[in-house]
Amino acid sequence: MTNIKFVKSEPVPLEMHKVRIVQKIQLIPLEERIERNREAGNNAHLLKNEDVFLDMLTDSGVNAMSDKQLASMISADDAYAGSASYYKLEEKIKETFDMEFFVPSHQGRACEHLLSRVFLKPDMIIPMNYHFTTTRALIEKAGAEVEELLIEEGMKPESDCPFKGNFDIEKLNRFIRDTGVDRIGFLRVEAGTNLIGGQPISMENIHKVTGICKENGIKTVLDASLLADNLYFIKTREEAYREMSVLDIIKEISACFDMIYFSGRKLTCARGGGMCFRDEKDYKKIRDLVPLYEGFATYGGISVREIEAMTVGLEETLDEDMISQGPVFIEEMTKLLTDRGVPMVTPGGGLGVHLDCKRFVPHVEPKEYPGAAVACALYLVSGIRGTERGTLSEDRDEQGEEVIAKMELLRLALPRRVFTLSQIKYAVDRIIWLYENRDLIGGLKFTEEPEVMRFFFGKLEPIGNWQDKLTEKFKKDFGE
Ligand SMILES: Cc1ncc(COP(=O)(O)O)c(C=O)c1O
Repeated sequence: MTNIKFVKSEPVPLEMHKVRIVQKIQLIPLEERIERNREAGNNAHLLKNEDVFLDMLTDSGVNAMSDKQLASMISADDAYAGSASYYKLEEKIKETFDMEFFVPSHQGRACEHLLSRVFLKPDMIIPMNYHFTTTRALIEKAGAEVEELLIEEGMKPESDCPFKGNFDIEKLNRFIRDTGVDRIGFLRVEAGTNLIGGQPISMENIHKVTGICKENGIKTVLDASLLADNLYFIKTREEAYREMSVLDIIKEISACFDMIYFSGRKLTCARGGGMCFRDEKDYKKIRDLVPLYEGFATYGGISVREIEAMTVGLEETLDEDMISQGPVFIEEMTKLLTDRGVPMVTPGGGLGVHLDCKRFVPHVEPKEYPGAAVACALYLVSGIRGTERGTLSEDRDEQGEEVIAKMELLRLALPRRVFTLSQIKYAVDRIIWLYENRDLIGGLKFTEEPEVMRFFFGKLEPIGNWQDKLTEKFKKDFGE
């Protein structure tokens, strides 16, 4: 965030912003948390926000906005067609990504939907470093498949590899040879790989992967939803980019791709999304679908006020103080927890901290959803909600069998500029207590299980009475 020195005490992450608008939060009593958790079917997505103390579910649409973003929203030009706010955004996108064509969409998954409608056929296979939940669900809905080509190190929770989101180049070459170019609709690169702990991809790897695709005539798509974190990691972990401006790094990345899409809820700290294109034909194919699924092509389903905020948010992504805020807080929280032996995904990435629940609760079987069990336990003892990223986030296969996830994580997202260091320290305190009492955590089973993306609406119950024992111990240690 900053390199201001501390001379009399240990350095801590120093915020380069001040808080001028606040929202009151409350920590409801333990007995109420037990009740609310039960009503929500042990699923953090179904809790009401008013019953949550620190909301670490996601960073999506909940990053703090800046004064400049809020100010810009007042002067929005509301029009169905041809809004001046839209043209400002279009200009900013072209300037940032150096791509000629742009379409807005209401959020990131809407871009994925349009991409899969236009570029996918039923027997295609789409290679990527790693899938994101909505990406894979939409690709499979179009009858195609996903192939993950991540380096092996990316799947190891504990590691010192700086770019765990990299592609395995040998696997990529083999995949292209074995599959044939005609069956590869496009290759997708995910910046700041979400489901493996917000881990970045290096510029070197981006060049290699997209170079191979060019040689083979395969279209390349960047999912830039988590690009801001990835930019910070390229700048700080890749020697050749230390002195380069953030804007120049973005331009070098985007020059590698045919198309780029993003969730504006993440990248621009506002609520929207969009896609840019190098090729006019690709652009027109997608643009023509925008009025059908999103809204007219000069608002794409986004409120015009949010379009203004997206423009400013994108500009602010070029500020190193801004893009470092998440990763630096995440690194600090990861360190505070690993120092006390809590199993974590390392090195810290972007987006949030990730508890490695395979090691946190090794006694809970994958089929009893260890990540979700730790998520419930943490809510009960702290009022903090996070998101399971493991077997529960997978859907069953066609035979109805569980698909066991390669990683069992509890993600505690740190939306940008939202939490203070004392709130982080509260979270660390409760996680350490929970880790010391991990033997009291048990598994969960479904009582209502949707077929698709079950983690959103599914309801579960504890197997046995472990939640009673856990909360009894909590009362004993903390008092009523
Ligand atoms: C990497 C990635 N891609 C796509 C999406 C989907 O974006 P949205 O939530 O705006 O639909 C997300 C959202 O979390 C994401 O993290």
